[in-house]
Formats: sequence, structure tokens, C-alpha cells
Amino acid sequence: MGKKPRILIVGGSGLLGVNWAFFARDEYQVVLALHQREVCLKNVQTCYLTLDSTDNLVHQIQAIKPNVIINAAGMTNVDKCESDPDLAKVLNVDFARNLALACYRLTVPMVHISTDHLFSGQLSLADEITTCCPINVYGQTKAMGEVQVLSVNPNILVIRTNFFGWGPSYRQSFSDLVINGLRAGNALTLFGDVYFSPIHIAVLAKTVHDLINVQAKGIFNVVGDERISKKDFGLRLAQKFNLDTTLIKIGSIDDTKFLIRRPKDMSLSNQKTCTLLNRNMGNIDDQIRVLYEQERDGLIEEVRRL
Ligand SMILES: NC(=O)c1ccc[n+]([C@@H]2O[C@H](COP(=O)([O-])OP(=O)(O)OC[C@H]3O[C@@H](n4cnc5c(N)ncnc54)[C@H](OP(=O)(O)O)[C@@H]3O)[C@@H](O)[C@H]2O)c1
Repeated sequence: MGKKPRILIVGGSGLLGVNWAFFARDEYQVVLALHQREVCLKNVQTCYLTLDSTDNLVHQIQAIKPNVIINAAGMTNVDKCESDPDLAKVLNVDFARNLALACYRLTVPMVHISTDHLFSGQLSLADEITTCCPINVYGQTKAMGEVQVLSVNPNILVIRTNFFGWGPSYRQSFSDLVINGLRAGNALTLFGDVYFSPIHIAVLAKTVHDLINVQAKGIFNVVGDERISKKDFGLRLAQKFNLDTTLIKIGSIDDTKFLIRRPKDMSLSNQKTCTLLNRNMGNIDDQIRVLYEQERDGLIEEVRRL
């Protein structure tokens, strides 16, 4: 049997990074690039990368010899981005660009993880050519990051997405907040007027590897097949996990005066990805079933204990 390809995941301690490593480690040699937080997963190597210099990155990547790099690092907290826009730009734009340029010089394929937070929220199911119109610093820096990585390296695969899964103890996902909250008997107010098209992280990671294998380049939306409100997604989670749905109250984003502006509709169309790969990504029930079976079968404890 041949040697497994090596993937380097930058942002290795994040919600996406640890889950990706967990799902990919049987098929790939996985190296997690860490920053501040240490992470230890069975059969996964770690390293420390500094992203502030392309020349240094070239040397560091040459030593690791990855077959592909996934960039899942960044400043992802919408409120923190708003209060420190300079740092948000450094992490979401400049560091991504440095990595993209290093990959270009080394001819290493790179995947850059973007977001669904790129539009004003007036339209549904944006596709890859819909003009970006971000309404907060997080969205603006993510949009600039896309432009920068592709301008220095046209071979990059940029993934726009919105994912959920079981998070480590220090980084809860939306589904963790709903399930843990309901299990604790807490009432939850979820927005009935904010829409997205979530995908389970395992489905996302598998789809991205399929796109890498067909040498896809440029922007691809990798999201679930269904657009849903946050409140209805919470209800569907509660139903599947047999939790008390009456604890979920409907709220409106318009009533939360102190929140940083967020788009009301973040749903994306996955048609381009589905057409290229000749399959669907799965509806909400399919995505939630993966989450449910991971817990039922005790498959994800190593991640949740981190
Ligand atoms: N979460 C979502 O629902 C969602 C939705 C759409 C798109 N995305 C995108 O998906 C990607 C991953 O998101 P996530 O939720 O997994 O993020 P996350 O949990 O917030 O993790 C961010 C990662 O970036 C690392 N990082 C922060 N500053 C760094 C620096 N100066 N140098 C190197 N690494 C640094 C962090 O390391 P330390 O912990 O050591 O600081 C951490 O590993 C991001 O690009 C995000 O924009 C996320």
C-alpha cells in the first residue's frame, strides 16, 4: 500500500481544524498547525507555524512537505472583529495572503476556508458569482481575504460554507449551544428571521477532499442542500435528539439592538459543487443524522473531551 498523502491544517485548534483532523486521519497523515492552544489527537501530528512572513512560511512548509494545505485559521468572532478591525485584517487577509503566496512558490495545493457572511442578507441562495456586499468587519475581511489569496495564487480552492459539528470543550458550535442548552433545561431564543444552509463538518471535509481530487480551483459554495432559519434548525435538532422543543422561543434579530449588524439571509446555493461532483450534499435531516450517529456510536468523544 502506498504512503498516505499528508495534509497540513492551519488553524489546527479551531472547531473546523480539530474535526477535520479527526475525520481525515485514517486516510491522510494529518499535521495540525497550532498557534496558542495545544491540541493532542491520536495519530495526528502537530507543529507551530508563524504566518506573518511568506519567506518563513516557505521554509516551514518545505520542512513539513504537505501534499495539500487547508487554511482554517482566522479571526472568527464577529464582535471581536468589529472591535479590532486591524487585527481582523491581519488574520483574515494578510496571513491568508502570505500562506497563499508561499503555496504558489512551492506549488503546493491550498484550500482557503471562507464564509457565508459575505452578503447584505437581502437575497437567498447566493451563488459563487453573486457580488459580495458584506455588512460587518468579519464579512469585509473575509471577502478581502478571498480576493487577496486568489490574486497571488489563482490555483487556490476557496470554500464558502457554514458548518456545525461536535466542538471541543473550549469551542462550541451552534448545534452544541442548542443541544447543551436544552439538555440543561434552559429556554433558548433563536432567530426565526436569520437563514443559513448548514452542513455537517464531516460532510464538508469529505466534499472538499473530493473537490481537491478533481483539481477544482476558484470559489465553491460547500453547504447543505436546504435553507433554514436558525429557529427551525434548533427545532429539528431538538426533535432528533428527543429534547424539549417547548424550550425554544422564537426571536427576531431586529429586536437585538446591541448586536453588530449581521446578514439576515446567509444561505448559499451549492449547485456548482453538486454539478461538478455529480451528487447532492444532503438536506438538514441528513446533516443532523451524522451528528446524531456520531454521539450515539461514541465516535466523537476524543474531540469533545479536548
Ligand atoms: N464556525 C463557523 O460556523 C464558520 C462559518 C463559516 C465560515 N467559517 C470559517 O471557517 C474557518 C474556521 O472557523 P472555526 O470556527 O474553526 O474557527 P475557530 O474555532 O475560531 O479557530 C480559529 C483558529 O485560528 C487560529 N489562529 C488565530 N490566530 C492565529 C494566528 N495569529 N496565527 C495562527 N493561527 C491563528 C486559532 O488558533 P489559537 O486557538 O491557538 O489561537 C484557531 O486554531 C474560518 O476561516 C472561519 O471564517 C466558520
